[in-house]
Amino acid sequence: MLFTDIIEKKKIKEELSEEEIQFFIDGFCKGEIPDYQVSALLMAIRLNGMSEKETYYLTKAMTYSGNVVDLSGIRGIKVDKHSTGGVGDKTTIALMPMVASLGAKVAKMSGRALGFCGGTVDKLESIPGYRLDLNEEEVREQVNRIGIALIGQSTELAPADKKIYALRDVTATVDSIPLIASSIMSKKLACGNDVIVLDVKYGNGAFMKDIQSAEELAREMIKIGENAHKRVSACLSSMKQPLGNAVGNALEVKEAIETLKGRGPKDFTELCLISGSVILEKAGLYTREEAYAKLQENIHNGKALEKLREVITAQGGDPRVVDDYSLLPQAKYITELKAETSGYVKDLPAQPIGELSMQLGAGRATKEESIDYAVGIVLNKKIGDYVEKGETLAYIHHDTELKEEWWKRMQNVYVLSDTPVKHEAVVEKVI
Ligand code: URA
Repeated sequence: MLFTDIIEKKKIKEELSEEEIQFFIDGFCKGEIPDYQVSALLMAIRLNGMSEKETYYLTKAMTYSGNVVDLSGIRGIKVDKHSTGGVGDKTTIALMPMVASLGAKVAKMSGRALGFCGGTVDKLESIPGYRLDLNEEEVREQVNRIGIALIGQSTELAPADKKIYALRDVTATVDSIPLIASSIMSKKLACGNDVIVLDVKYGNGAFMKDIQSAEELAREMIKIGENAHKRVSACLSSMKQPLGNAVGNALEVKEAIETLKGRGPKDFTELCLISGSVILEKAGLYTREEAYAKLQENIHNGKALEKLREVITAQGGDPRVVDDYSLLPQAKYITELKAETSGYVKDLPAQPIGELSMQLGAGRATKEESIDYAVGIVLNKKIGDYVEKGETLAYIHHDTELKEEWWKRMQNVYVLSDTPVKHEAVVEKVI
């Protein structure tokens, strides 16, 4: 087989076969097909798209380019969730104990993030002593015993995706729905779960800027999952503003714990309840309505919080953090951002808040940078809220002095309006 023939075929909009796609992935991973030829194919895919079959074959080939986790030793339905990423997204830490408290089995692998904010792994690492590096046997034993393990990725999943993504990043081919869908789903399928619930975000702080493209991506990923005989659903959720109030690692852990105590921000709590009920429905454990009520019940009776305490204990973390937040890393200073005028919050774009939080030390711009777990931003007002002049808009948790330029940008992040602004639902649609 010649790779030039494969490029030619895609150029003239013909469908690639499974063998041709497998040849591409194998050859690229072995270093037998050069970057410039793969770049040409990626651009042809970006311009001409891929059929449902092609997208599935590409996902499958990428999934099996590395190890696929074997969860067969875990009894019960194994569930997973994936978020396309957003500012203030601490969902795993609250949601997974919630669904585990109702019988779903959770062997969740998370990653670190580059850019705006820490990933779930960084957030969990802010819990003193918490171990993320369990091996497969330890995960199996723990999930069979307590129903949940929240760990980091031990080996690289779907290594072909990493190589391809690096090329897409420098060839203007990131924004292709079949390439994004296959990239995300190859890593999810490699985790070996039965149920996958996707949280596809849209808005200024998200990969997908509008709900239509988020829906298109969600439907593409659901089709891939169905072809792979998995039970997949998606929630389309807004990232027009950060999720919840806290942005920053230990601050987000605290907010996730507060949510499990029934005192979480409304939008974040709602996202957890809706995604949780979809997970439990897909797992065949409850109807969606029953699941929603059961999840609320387990927040109120403390069972969901107890599950988080159990997983922290099982993984060597200090479970006392659940009751005593002073055991989490604390920033040296807390500075308040006050409103200069009265009005309704109209805009609170997630992206600059993520960037400002990263500049405080909560995220890393390069892989080598370390994270300051304590710092971040806690929003006191969100879109639709009324603010009186002089009221606190946000609390800045910082360890170093705030630079003038940083402060100016932070002051401009809140946009107020004289007329009332609607509070929008965080989840727009479930597919
Ligand atoms: N996230 C991924 O994992 N892959 C993409 O292509 C885009 C976002």
